[in-house]
Amino acid sequence: MALERVDAAAAMGALAARWRAAGARVGFVPTMGALHAGHRSLIQAARAECDRVVVSVFVNPRQFGPDEDLDRYPRTLDADLRLAGEAGADAAFVPKVEAVYPPGFATTVSVSGLTEGLCGASRPGHFDGVATVVARLFGIVGPCRAYFGQKDYQQVAVVRRMVADLALPVAVVSCPIVREPDGLAMSSRNRYLDADTRRRAAAVPRALEAGAARVAAGEHDPERVLGVMRALLEAAGGRVDYVAAVNAETLRAVARVGMGDVLLVAVRFGGTRLIDNRVLS
Ligand code: PAJ
Repeated sequence: MALERVDAAAAMGALAARWRAAGARVGFVPTMGALHAGHRSLIQAARAECDRVVVSVFVNPRQFGPDEDLDRYPRTLDADLRLAGEAGADAAFVPKVEAVYPPGFATTVSVSGLTEGLCGASRPGHFDGVATVVARLFGIVGPCRAYFGQKDYQQVAVVRRMVADLALPVAVVSCPIVREPDGLAMSSRNRYLDADTRRRAAAVPRALEAGAARVAAGEHDPERVLGVMRALLEAAGGRVDYVAAVNAETLRAVARVGMGDVLLVAVRFGGTRLIDNRVLS
């Protein structure tokens, strides 16, 4: 079936309401566009579990800091609509900024605790922007299931917390990280990398693998595990924002790292900030 493009919030709400009234389970995949195989996997997961699938494409200004890449964030709408349709989406919600934040919009959704460390520390206000837009998109679309990538580990945790705290009637589904052949996690921002930086960025998944291997070999001291990871990233020319070993639920640093914990990395290669993580299993 052809993909239906919807620009207005009211029209999106009405379409999803019709589907729900007919008994359909509505799946939702929020994105900022520049879609790649990682996004595709979320759409396919939604397709497999739901009767109707909505993908949103919205570069959310509220989650970018003043010195971040809002203006140059890749915008590839035609290709995005093609990919979304081919992956099985029924509708693409492509709102303008004013449709998401109409005049008079005055609410911020702020999740405390989980947002203090990691990306929250280096990107102040970022998760308020994410939580606010996701809450608003949930309100417009009214999905019964919403799909997020584990690639943004902290983001999924924040969205889960928000959904639980606000008793939103939506199940949050976390999907595995889709990677390039050399292990680099797919990201819309990878297209900022030139050929040399792109090669060196493969140190990110290698560092996570090396950290995981240390733990598997019996090293439980986070400082040592993280030291190995940091050294690999720096040897590749990366500027480390953070390396962390945290509890999978609280996202608090662990004193002893072991199975079930999560290793996370944020690192800059050139001007591009990359994040990745690995759950120890
Ligand atoms: P965006 O970066 O476009 O990502 C949309 C969704 O795709 C997120 O849930 C993200 O975790 C997932 N994703 C990205 N790369 C992935 C990969 N390699 N493998 C699996 N999933 C991947 O995240 C956002 O947009 C925004 O913050 C958003 C939630 C849309 C709110 O504006």
